[in-house]
Amino acid sequence: MAKSHPTFVCQACGAVFGRWKGRCEACGGWNTVVEEAAAPAAGPVALRPVRAKGRVFPLEALAGESREAPRTPCGIAEFDRVTGGGFVRGSVILLGGDPGIGKSTLLMQAAAALARGRRVAYISGEEAVAQVRLRAERLGLAAAPVELAAETNVEDIVATLSEGEAPALAVIDSIQTMWTETVESAPGTVTQVRGSAQALIRFAKSRGTALILVGHVTKDGQIAGPRVVEHMVDAVVSFEGDAGHHFRILRAVKNRFGPTDEIGVFEMTDRGLAEVPNPSALFLAGRDLATPGTAVFAGMEGTRPLLVEIQALVAPSALGTPRRAVVGWDPSRLSMVLAVLEAHGGLRLGQHDVYLNVAGGLRIAEPAADLAAAAALVSSLSGAALPADTVYFGEVGLSGAVRPVAQAQARLKEAAKLGFSRAVSPAPRGEAERAPIDTVPLGHIADLVAGIAARGVRRREP
Ligand code: TYD
Ligand code: MG
Repeated sequence: MAKSHPTFVCQACGAVFGRWKGRCEACGGWNTVVEEAAAPAAGPVALRPVRAKGRVFPLEALAGESREAPRTPCGIAEFDRVTGGGFVRGSVILLGGDPGIGKSTLLMQAAAALARGRRVAYISGEEAVAQVRLRAERLGLAAAPVELAAETNVEDIVATLSEGEAPALAVIDSIQTMWTETVESAPGTVTQVRGSAQALIRFAKSRGTALILVGHVTKDGQIAGPRVVEHMVDAVVSFEGDAGHHFRILRAVKNRFGPTDEIGVFEMTDRGLAEVPNPSALFLAGRDLATPGTAVFAGMEGTRPLLVEIQALVAPSALGTPRRAVVGWDPSRLSMVLAVLEAHGGLRLGQHDVYLNVAGGLRIAEPAADLAAAAALVSSLSGAALPADTVYFGEVGLSGAVRPVAQAQARLKEAAKLGFSRAVSPAPRGEAERAPIDTVPLGHIADLVAGIAARGVRRREP
């Protein structure tokens, strides 16, 4: 029999090496390679009796009938929106998020909501049953028929959940604390996380239980443990927000059974997470109307329009290389917008520090925010406040052209609903529907700069 060698596994990407390395050759991470006990010779396949011939299974036609995946909505509308209308039977969701962001709170609320008339289990590997109970009491959910346990052994959990009726929902909080007897490594290592996830997922698929695995997030925002867990599950959902704000945003990063661009917005209150059905109003609350450097962006998150304030500060720099800092937006898009403003808008920003912030802790990924960011930047540089009743949206090309974006009508409607009366946006393509508010069609970034500069001049006149 071959001598068992120690194996070294990268805790970031799961790559296996024969000896220790300071830097993982697969993903380039430093100090991520850790010694783990060698896995059993060849994984679970070898444990099964060897068969001489494969089993013949029927192949089906692509055109065959299949029913829509049966879903169980949990009744928390913002959560259901992100999952695509509810939990799918036998599907597995990985929920990631910073410690203390509210993952356990959200899942306890979802579990309690779903538990009316269905079997729901909540397995905590991090907290004692008393702690979980205390939280439920605080949330006013102490009477919900959720089955609780503080357990970390996967075999025990699977055996317990397999007894009686299969649960409609099982929550595992968190996958990093689970361990399976089939793997010798310590809990939290890649091999354990992968092995435990595999066993739990197999249970969920075979019994039709919707399974939610909580995953920890590393310093740089990745779900800790191997990326392979992300590939094993049906949906990866992240719970975001920062400590300074009460808003929490639930976002699907991957979803086999629904959209990936929808977000759910919550507010952390002293009685748990409250849904925010109209996030635009929340994100615009406390807006400073008279200061230069702020612009309202009419954005879209999935099918839902969302207005947010974009703040910019452009100030003369004392440094040789001016600072560029951005929160909530893509830094390379900021560099691009700055370059376009210099090349086609006649602005000189080489001696200025530039800061850009998306208010309320939201993160925007849409290129349609280019125009709003540009307006905030020009406004800050020129000292001219933008009109308080105007929203901005549009993508800016490298030539300085302002390009149309999708769902303009939905953005305009949301702006009208919140009391805005004007939109600065790209000229619509072809025959346009009647806009619900005044639109100022913009073809080129230079027109934006000229318009804002003219406001500054007008303001300084007596
Ligand atoms: P928790 O769900 O334990 O976070 P996670 O599981 O993601 O680590 O939430 C912890 C935070 O939420 C904690 O700082 C307290 C806060 N909180 C409230 O503000 N209100 C509440 O009703 C509850 C239950 C928690
Ligand atoms: Mg927790």
